[in-house]
Amino acid sequence: MSLYPELRMRRIRKSDWVRRLVRESILSVNDLIWPLIVTDNPHDSHIDAMPGVNRLGIEGIVNAAKEARDLGIPAIALFPHISARYKNEQGSEALNAEGLIPETLRAIKAEITDIGVIVDVALDPYTSHGHDGILQDGQIINDASVDILTQSALILAQAGADIVAPSDMMDGRVGSIRTALEAQGHTQTLILSYAAKYASSFYGPFREAVGSAQNLQGDKKTYQMDIGNRLEALREVALDIEEGADLVMVKPGIAFLDVIREVKLNYQIPVFAFQVSGEYAMIKAAGKENWLNEKAVMMESLTCFKRAGADGILTYFARNIAEELAR
Ligand code: PBG
Repeated sequence: MSLYPELRMRRIRKSDWVRRLVRESILSVNDLIWPLIVTDNPHDSHIDAMPGVNRLGIEGIVNAAKEARDLGIPAIALFPHISARYKNEQGSEALNAEGLIPETLRAIKAEITDIGVIVDVALDPYTSHGHDGILQDGQIINDASVDILTQSALILAQAGADIVAPSDMMDGRVGSIRTALEAQGHTQTLILSYAAKYASSFYGPFREAVGSAQNLQGDKKTYQMDIGNRLEALREVALDIEEGADLVMVKPGIAFLDVIREVKLNYQIPVFAFQVSGEYAMIKAAGKENWLNEKAVMMESLTCFKRAGADGILTYFARNIAEELAR
């Protein structure tokens, strides 16, 4: 006898204690990665579309890293916001070993050793045109971009990055970065590949945050993936694993949970998800209007990443979630 009325699914939902016992996906502080935006101009800290997130100067970042460490957050992810005078066509500031991110890495590592520091590898915060690679005659040229991104990754590894995270979607960059890291003795630097990164409109607030929005010419559809594609994401992941990625990422998050799931089921590699700026902005905006319960939706969205199969989640809510989980 295994049907109603003997079988009642509601029995395993009847009280909090049994719901807690049978919950399959548990969000923990160990799942969190906190993205932080470092600026060379701390007076310019406000980001319209990301309430609760500010650009921080180097000192502010070091303090945030300590706070993250004290909350038990395993890693932070750094993104640069640099003044327009340092931007040019080639994004050459990405190769400055004394630049904002290398300085920030050294400042963090001088004070804190027990937190992982992830740095993005892409040219968009550094180029005057806002693209992730080199623009020539209206095209993003792949191989020249890979050369610069590889040099940039090396500089970041030298400055103390624990994980380099190429977010540019050029072909062959993971292999090129891995080869260069090995050749220079950086055998312990992890590569977190933005393997399935979609040409998404959910990145809008981030582009404002790092100051690449106002000058972005055109869109990124010749390198970021078409949002309608699923199988192509699996090919991208397979290639990045073969090229030497230690960790792979799917981005954005909530609208791409099916892709996270498939990557998890198909490959034996940790998969991270990025709850991007636009996802954060939507939850914050609706929360502010009291149209949604912000805290509840924040926790629900993160638990759903876990259910889909994410091993780690980059989220601007990381500190809030860690605080909530510590209660
Ligand atoms: C840069 C980069 C982007 C994000 C992370 N790294 C923006 C883009 O590709 O245009 C998006 C992060 C977010 O929206 O929170 N290549």
